[in-house]
Order: sequence, then C-alpha cells, then structure tokens
Amino acid sequence: AIDIKTIRSATGMITIDPGYKNTGSCKSAITFLDGEKGILRYRGYSIEELAEKADFLEVAYLLIFGELPNQEALDKFHNDIKGESHVDEEMKKILDGFPKSAHPMGVLSCLTCALIAFNPTSVNVSSEKEMYWAIVRIMAKFPVLVAWTLRKKKGLPLDYGDDTLGYVENIHKMMFKKPNHKYEKNKVVIDALDKLLILHADHEQNCSTSTVRMVGSSHAGLFASLSAGISALWGPLHGGANQAVLEMLEAIEADGGDTKKYMAKAKDKNDPFRLMGFGHRVYKNFDPRAKIIKKAADEVLADLGVEDSILDIAKGLEKEALDDKYFVDRKLYPNVDFYSGIIYRSLGIPTEMFTVMFALGRLPGWIAQWREMRLNKEPIGRPRQVYIGPTVRSFVPLDER
Ligand code: ACO
Repeated sequence: AIDIKTIRSATGMITIDPGYKNTGSCKSAITFLDGEKGILRYRGYSIEELAEKADFLEVAYLLIFGELPNQEALDKFHNDIKGESHVDEEMKKILDGFPKSAHPMGVLSCLTCALIAFNPTSVNVSSEKEMYWAIVRIMAKFPVLVAWTLRKKKGLPLDYGDDTLGYVENIHKMMFKKPNHKYEKNKVVIDALDKLLILHADHEQNCSTSTVRMVGSSHAGLFASLSAGISALWGPLHGGANQAVLEMLEAIEADGGDTKKYMAKAKDKNDPFRLMGFGHRVYKNFDPRAKIIKKAADEVLADLGVEDSILDIAKGLEKEALDDKYFVDRKLYPNVDFYSGIIYRSLGIPTEMFTVMFALGRLPGWIAQWREMRLNKEPIGRPRQVYIGPTVRSFVPLDER
C-alpha cells in the first residue's frame, strides 16, 4: 500500500513515508529482488543457481567485489583471511565478563565493536586498499567471535580455527569440535550450512543493512557499522524471527499441537499473536529462499536421522496458511526464517544462537553495502521530520510547576 504523504512543515515540504515502504535510500548494484515474482539475484546471479553451485566464500567475494572470483583471486582472498584470523587474547576477557545467560546477539554486537580497540587501523579507512584489509580482518575474525559466543553458551573451551580447512568447514569445526575429540567433517551438514549462509548473504535495503549504511555514512568505520547492524538484526520483526519461529512452534507443541487454534489467534485482530516466519515486506507471492531452505531442511533431517515433531507442526501451519483466505488475501507466505531454525535445531545450535547464524550469513552483504556506500561517496544519512509538538513555550521554574 502506498502511504506517502507530502506535508508542508515549518521548514518546507517534507515527504512522510512510515517504514520507508516506498522510499529508496540509495542506488545499488548488489542485490536485485522482485517481491511480486519471487526473484532474488546477487550481482545478477539467481539465488537458486548460487545456492546450488557456489560456496559461501565465493558468494561473499561476488557480493563484496562485484564479480565471481577466479581460482587465483579466491585463493588470495582466503589466504588473506586465514592470515588475519587471530583474535586478541584480551577479547576473551571481555567475553568472560558476560553472564552465561546473556543473549548471544548482544554479546556478538559488543564483541564486534570491541574489535575496533584491537584493530585501530581498520577504523578510519578510506582508500580501497585500507577497505580491503578491514574487510579481510572482519571476514576472518567474525566467525571466531560467533564460535566463541556459541562455545561460551555451551560451556565449552574456546578455540581457534584450522588453516587447512575450507571457510565454512572451519566455521563448523570452530563451533562444534568437542574437547579432546578429533574434528569430524559431515558433508551434508557443511553443504546445508553453506546454503543457509548463501541464502542469508544479502537482501538489499532491509532494516539491518540500512542501519549499516546509515551508521557508515557518518564514516564511523566498518566494525562499528556492523555492530549496529547486528543490533538491528536482533529484533523479532527482522532476523530475530528465526528464534521466534522455533519458540512459537515449541509453544504450540507444548499446548497440544493444535495448529488451528494458533491460526485463529493469528487472524484475531484483538490478539497480538502473529504467525512468526510468515509474511514479508517485499515478497508478496513466495520467498525464493524459503523454497530452497525447505528442501535443505528435509535433506539434513533425513541424513542426521532426526524425526522432529516440530517439523510436523511447521508443515501443518504452512499447509493451513496456504489454504486460508486471511493469509492468501494478505499474501502471507513462509519466509526464510520459517525453515532455517529447523536446520539449526537439528545441528544442536541453541535457539538463542539462530539470529547469530543469520548475522554470520549476512556479514558479506553488510560489508558489500558499506563498501558500495563509501565508494559512491554517499552523503551522511539524515532524514527529515515533520514536527508535531508544542509551539513555542516559556520556561516554567521548577517550584512553579
Ligand atoms: N501473522 C498474522 N498476520 C500478519 C502477519 C503474520 N505473520 N504478518 C502480517 N500480517 C497481517 C497484518 O496484521 C496486516 O493485516 P491487516 O491488513 O488486516 O491490518 C497485514 O498482514 C499486513 O501486515 P504488515 O505488518 O502491514 O506488513 P509489513 O510489511 O509491515 O510487515 C513483517 C512485514 C514485519 C515481516 C510481518 O509480516 C511480520 O510481522 N511477520 C512475522 C515476523 C517475521 O516472520 N519476520 C521476518 C521477516 S523476514 C526477515 O526479516 C529475514
């Protein structure tokens, strides 16, 4: 719905577009999406093809630098990343300072910002070379922070990665290797992780990406911009939805598994309950990522031999929503978060870590958008407003109020 108003304010004509539903904030050559047709492309390549044929590091390179890398370029990027993967030991003390109950998204946002103190040369970057090294550093260190966040949550000792492994394989090892056990590679799991990360890698000007561009537009630096983006992603109407989906499915199961009851709640305008994982600001027919993830979820569950009653509830909700006039009329279809949580759960990732996994995937997209914004020399973001408060008033001293 177009809900734009042009209003004459004290300072001139101002356009009001709540939630920026029809307002572009930039020109971008990174991601194309057509919500009506369910099309998503990174730099012109379809998400279906990339999820099928590319790996996450190739996609990261494509998003950030604009072209698919040849082997030499990919090897250089990967080697540069390996060379920067050390995270200062003092960072472990910061992590130690958080209670075990701390939400991992809060921890990750803080740790990402804290990295600035240990990598001061990555802050005031302006040349392409300086940008490149800031990008390499965060691509290297962010997975370590993610793994540390998970291991802290699980009470496992912290570890660094293994240079001999692929980028995603190494992330898998850092997260899941059991103490005093040899790391065991599981190809189906690594492939599913690769796909999940690719599918989350960029989604044009969503809330967290716009935040990264906005913060970066003040030249606050890449790590500070990313830290702000992580906070934006945390919310349940954005990346936090994957956690909310699982919690909703668990609540439905605990309440006897009556999906019809929850469908009715979702449609009741006096009930604040929403069917989490349904609906999207842009996709109004289907979310192409949800289709791919649904298939990956089936494969991982079959490979790991997981039979999950939660998945049955998810499938039941999906089937009912597809036949329901309320959902059909409002074009509410399962989004990417509806199925991703089921895969994460089968891998033994705690529910609170789901949005962290989303952040891990979104990292190259945020970086690409930040780099594009800086290279385009975009001006500082500074929306206007229409003031609706009191007109001029005289100050009233405290004892006269
Ligand atoms: N369950 C029930 N009703 C819904 C849902 C839902 N999940 N989503 C939207 N609606 C209804 C609204 O009540 C509204 O109904 P009305 O026209 O009768 O008032 C209509 O559909 C339009 O909804 P809006 O909130 O105006 O749509 P908007 O584009 O602003 O919101 C959003 C999109 C935030 C994703 C919304 O669909 C939602 O809250 N979904 C659940 C949370 C979720 O899954 N978020 C993840 C999004 S994907 C991502 O960030 C990666």
